[in-house]
Amino acid sequence: MANQIGLPAGLSDYIRESSLREDEVLRKLRETTSELATGSAMQVMPEEGQLLTLLAGLTPARRILEIGTFTGYSTLCLARALAPGGRLVTCDITDRWPQIGADYWTRAGVDGQIDLRIGDATDTLKAMIADEGPGGFDFVFIDADKQRYPDYYEMALTLLGDHGLIVVDNTLFFGRVADPDAQDADTAAIRAFNILVRDDPRVEMSLVPMADGITLIRKKQRMRE
Ligand SMILES: C[S@@+](CC[C@H](N)C(=O)[O-])C[C@H]1O[C@@H](n2cnc3c(N)ncnc32)[C@H](O)[C@@H]1O
Repeated sequence: MANQIGLPAGLSDYIRESSLREDEVLRKLRETTSELATGSAMQVMPEEGQLLTLLAGLTPARRILEIGTFTGYSTLCLARALAPGGRLVTCDITDRWPQIGADYWTRAGVDGQIDLRIGDATDTLKAMIADEGPGGFDFVFIDADKQRYPDYYEMALTLLGDHGLIVVDNTLFFGRVADPDAQDADTAAIRAFNILVRDDPRVEMSLVPMADGITLIRKKQRMRE
């Protein structure tokens, strides 16, 4: 789980105690994930999961696309926001992690609404665009391999309907984006991605300094016309 960056000690605890509504199914999934050898470093923090539910419900979302399932915590948060009859497509390159989450999706009663697609997400998204055409999704959550974010972003814009929202995770990348000594490929990719979105005239955007950095993106009115 990427923790909240940049808050004074104690304030993160206060926010958790005074605002987190995580239920037993989500809490158990988080605990199960933390016992894995990989740990829960890849998982969204629970406050972010709660925000995802709120945002997806606001759009409102009948069709949600998630890129990066892992053990399915964010998947469950998003699935719970689906409008009646809605569906969520979630993509991962391996079924190793999602199969852990699938049991929790069943316990939460949303498994029937989740369509898990295993494979490289670039291929999965290309196939979706070819098969289903543009504009079919109301909400896209991008949380997979960082160096592919520009490709995922472009395909998400294609797949997103006019009033939809794209949410991108880890855009502060553990604070490394602001550390001149951090020159690894993933940090460099996130820096470049942030500038790409800032300078994209097609969208409105905001980089919210919550959790590990969450960028919210929607198409500008004139792109929607
Ligand atoms: C940060 S984790 C996702 C965390 C998840 N959203 C959650 O909150 O639990 C990133 C996931 O992306 C997957 N991934 C990495 N590269 C991928 C690719 N090229 N295509 C699809 N999935 C990929 C990884 O297997 C991993 O499960």
